Amino acid sequence: MPTIFYRVTADSIGLNDSHISTWDSLASIELDASKRESRIVTICGYITSQRSAGKFEFLQLVNPRLDQAVQVICSKETLRRPMSGQTHGLSKAEVESQVFSTEIRGHTPVQITGSVVARAAPPKNKGQADRIQNLDDQQNRVLEKLDPFVGHIGLLPQVEIQAESISPLNTFPADLVAKCDTAFPPELRHLQFRTDNGLRSRIRLRSKVASKIREGMLKNDFDEIETPLLFKSTPEGAREFIVPTRRKGLAYALPQSPQQYKQVLMASGISRYFQFAKCFRDEDLRADRQPEFTQLDLEMSFAGAEEVMVVVEDIVRNFVWPNVPDVQPIENAVSTGNSSHADPSRFPRLSYADVMTRYGSDKPDTRLGSEIHRIDEWLPENVIGMLTSLQDPIVEMLKIKMQGADPSTSTRFIRSFLDAPASAVYSSNPAGMPGISIYDPSKPLRGLASFGHEAAARVEETFEPEPGDIFIIQTRARASFAGGWTVLGNLRRDVLQSAISEGLISAPIGFAGLWVVDFPLFSPTEETEPGQGGLAGLCSTHHPFTAPKKDQDLSLLITNPLQIIGDHYDLVINGVEIGGGSRRIHVADMQELVLKDVLKLRAERLEDFRHLLNALMCGCPPHAGFALGFDRLMAMLTGRASVRDVIAFPKFADGEDKFVKSPSLLTAEQLATYHLAINDSVEAKHSPLVSIKG
Ligand code: AMO
Repeated sequence: MPTIFYRVTADSIGLNDSHISTWDSLASIELDASKRESRIVTICGYITSQRSAGKFEFLQLVNPRLDQAVQVICSKETLRRPMSGQTHGLSKAEVESQVFSTEIRGHTPVQITGSVVARAAPPKNKGQADRIQNLDDQQNRVLEKLDPFVGHIGLLPQVEIQAESISPLNTFPADLVAKCDTAFPPELRHLQFRTDNGLRSRIRLRSKVASKIREGMLKNDFDEIETPLLFKSTPEGAREFIVPTRRKGLAYALPQSPQQYKQVLMASGISRYFQFAKCFRDEDLRADRQPEFTQLDLEMSFAGAEEVMVVVEDIVRNFVWPNVPDVQPIENAVSTGNSSHADPSRFPRLSYADVMTRYGSDKPDTRLGSEIHRIDEWLPENVIGMLTSLQDPIVEMLKIKMQGADPSTSTRFIRSFLDAPASAVYSSNPAGMPGISIYDPSKPLRGLASFGHEAAARVEETFEPEPGDIFIIQTRARASFAGGWTVLGNLRRDVLQSAISEGLISAPIGFAGLWVVDFPLFSPTEETEPGQGGLAGLCSTHHPFTAPKKDQDLSLLITNPLQIIGDHYDLVINGVEIGGGSRRIHVADMQELVLKDVLKLRAERLEDFRHLLNALMCGCPPHAGFALGFDRLMAMLTGRASVRDVIAFPKFADGEDKFVKSPSLLTAEQLATYHLAINDSVEAKHSPLVSIKG
């Protein structure tokens, strides 16, 4: 392997930018091969693969966007020329004495000057990875290929460049392997981008979808308004990130969302606001959570839930879905019965109580079916007694449709699912273990004997099972729903996901939107800090600015707040909570009552909201809004389980940005500047604690 030697000096790495041709013009050049036509071009890109044939070198030049390539041919002499022609800054003796390599390392950025000619023998389709594809117009035909360095690209099959000079613009380290099957640690995120065309196309799609959403919002008469990132600590819900200042004891907080500013905009006479907002929440991370994430945030004055939902659906249906490849919207993936919202041109709507009853989740994937049925009345007491030690429990059942698996396969599958360590949460459920039966015509009562004669008959009649279908029974305490899931709801989700990943049932396709409405306005909580920090044992289910759905509920605010339904709506697509919003409390007295008398915020924390209360007091119109989690939307649209896969520089599970190695330790000087001291003596979850120096 020859040693690579590029002479890189300050003078020689610059672009010769007099006549750089664009790749679009290259793709559309039409040449008559029979007349030996050619065009002179100067073009930039990356060299990836290279091979020798006789006196010639064949190189693949990939465009700066890393999605199109053209073949380059040159003589070995061309490559041997110092800097391939760029002798600027070198003396004659230097030029003559230099020995230059004929190999250009993959990923090297170059500028090439040469003649574009018709390709003598256009390449043929080879294997699955290569196929001719028509670009936007008929002339721009490309051959899809797998480039070992940058992944899938489109090769221009009709033309090639006969290079007169090839000027490397930088070097690529000799000790780095960067191919499209290389797994890179997060510290080498730039190489992940270079080599992973999937990641590149997701990030580009994100940019396109954002621009289409912006177009849709402007068409709907919204104004894009930025709100501050250096905000203030207010007990809104999630734990915040604090930004200390040089003024002793004073700190900003980063916004968990622009909620308060957007409400103040409504009080300011802005009628329709939106922005792509950066939000910050110091929460435990999961696949669908980042401490720093992006929302499409919007708010409308003189509007309620209905007006907001219409706008959000317009954006999703008409500006997002048409701009994402292969999106198949599914209408009516769920039955809403005779409800007034059974309009087939709109996303269906189910109440919180309905989704919890039917799916055991406040964000169900309705495409999966397997609805839950109450069967307490069906089972004899002795059977219920075998399932649980609870007195007077609720008993629920669902069927997993195994799509023709034979009963023995279903039995093996569900046994190994329940034996897996991740299922310990189900087998050790204090409310009782799940009861399992497999529908099997070869068994007594077709495998349902444990229910007794009568119940087995009702199960068959209601669920209409087929051989191999799995029945799961689960008991729970008789109490109203609280939170976002029941054990059976989680079990339904996990068993279905496991059966899909084992190939036993087919993965659902298409996108099914669902509005979940009528959440309880408040939920019980044991936490008093950090969150909303109230002392009432309650927290707002959405946030403390959400209005009760009905005016007549107002008296319940003091007497029985847990009974009030909030005017809160979540958009769920394919089992992911994509966004949430609400109609707001727009009357200052009522907002103060909620904060002070219902949530029982301490006086000083109540004062943190004074700016909002003052704004509401000045004739603030009724208003409502919504925020769509843009990272979650993009992950869902691109079929990724984690939002990390659609974020250019994501944080990892521990909240670290491993690329820049952040958060980083504060120096003694920084600590002094911000009047902070490390307090080693206090036991903290993320010790050591930093405190303000007195
Ligand atoms: P909410 O807290 O429900 O509402 O957030 C709206 C949407 O933002 C997304 N989301 C997240 N995405 C990634 N990482 C996170 N840590 C994260 N947390 C939330 C979700 C969620 O549905 N101000 C209100 C909206 C309003 O009432 O107008 C709010 O932020 O997709």
